[in-house]
Amino acid sequence: MTDPQSSSPVKLEKGPDMRVTVAGIELRSPVIAASGTFGYGLEFDDVLSLDRIGAFVTKGLSREPMAGNPSPRIIETAAGMINAIGLQNVGVRAFIADKLPKLRRIKGLVTIANVFGFTIEDCVEVTHALNDAEGIAMIELNASCPNTSHGGMVFGTNHELLFELVSKTKAVSRLPLMVKLSPNVTSIGLMARVAADAGADALSLVNTFLSMAIDIETRRPRIANVTGGLSGPAIKPIAVRMVHEVAKAVTLPIVGMGGILNEKDTVEFLLAGATAVEVGTASYADPRAVENIATGLRKWCARHAIERVSELTGAVVL
Ligand SMILES: Cc1cc2nc3c(=O)[nH]c(=O)nc-3n(C[C@H](O)[C@H](O)[C@H](O)COP(=O)(O)O)c2cc1C
Repeated sequence: MTDPQSSSPVKLEKGPDMRVTVAGIELRSPVIAASGTFGYGLEFDDVLSLDRIGAFVTKGLSREPMAGNPSPRIIETAAGMINAIGLQNVGVRAFIADKLPKLRRIKGLVTIANVFGFTIEDCVEVTHALNDAEGIAMIELNASCPNTSHGGMVFGTNHELLFELVSKTKAVSRLPLMVKLSPNVTSIGLMARVAADAGADALSLVNTFLSMAIDIETRRPRIANVTGGLSGPAIKPIAVRMVHEVAKAVTLPIVGMGGILNEKDTVEFLLAGATAVEVGTASYADPRAVENIATGLRKWCARHAIERVSELTGAVVL
C-alpha cells in the first residue's frame, strides 16, 4: 500500500516483533522445545505447528545408539517430575540418515542438535558427524553427563573438564555451539565464565537437578536408577536465579529453562537475562504447550505494548 502524499509505504499496524537472535541464528519466537521432551520433533508434527515455535532441540545424540535405563524411569513429584531415561537415543548416524531428511521437509523448522558423550572424544565425534549434515542450525552440548574417563565425574561440575570439553568441541564445530550447563554446582556463574572462555557461542540452563524419591511402603527408590533429574515448576525459582547469575557473569546469549508452563514464566526468564527459553516438562502435560506458550507470549507483549520481545532481556528492575 502506498501513501498518495508521499512515495513511502504506509505503516500498517503490526504485532510485536517476536524475533530473537541466539549465536547468530535468528528465531521467529524465543520459545524453543527442550531436549528430551520433544523426541526427534517429527512425533509432534501432527500435534502442533512446528513452524510457529522458535526452534526445537533433539533428544541427546550419542556416538552409538543407547537403550537407556530400566523402568521405572519417570515419576511424578509435587510440582514436577524425576526422570532417569538414561539418554536413550538412536545414535547420531541413524539420526542423520533416518530423521533429518524428514525434518528438512518441514518448512521453517529450526533444528538444534543436542550432543552428549561419555568422553570428550565422543562429543567431538558426534559434533564432527553433524558438521556435514544439512538442516542443523546449532549444536547444544549437554555438559550434564558423566565422563567415564574421569570416574564418572559430570563434565559440567568440574571447571577444568568443562573447559576441555567445550574448547575441543568448539575446535571441530562448523555450527554455532551452545553449551548446556549443569545446575548441580555451587557457582553457576563460574561455570558460565569457563564455558565462555572456552569458546561457547551461547549458554543454555538449566538441566535437571539431581534428586531422589523413596516409596515408603517398599522402602525402595521410586526410580530404578535410584537417582534422577528433577524438572518442572518445582525448579523454576532456582533456574530463574541461575539465569540471573549467569547474565551477570557473561555477555553471551542465554537460553533459560526450568519449569516454564506459560507465557508469564517465560517473561520472568527473559527479565532475568535470557534471550530465549526452552520448554520441557510442560510438553508432557500438554503436547501443544510450546506453541501455546509462543502464542501466549506474543499476546502478552501486545497487551503490554512491548514492540520487540528482545527489549525484555535482562530488564529486571533491581
Ligand atoms: C524426560 C526428560 C528427558 C530429558 N532428556 C534430556 C536430554 O537428552 N538432553 C538434555 O540436555 N536435557 C534433557 N532433559 C532436560 C530438559 O531439556 C530441561 O533442561 C529440564 O527438564 C528443565 O526444563 P523443564 O523444567 O521445562 O522440563 C530431559 C528432561 C526430561 C524431563
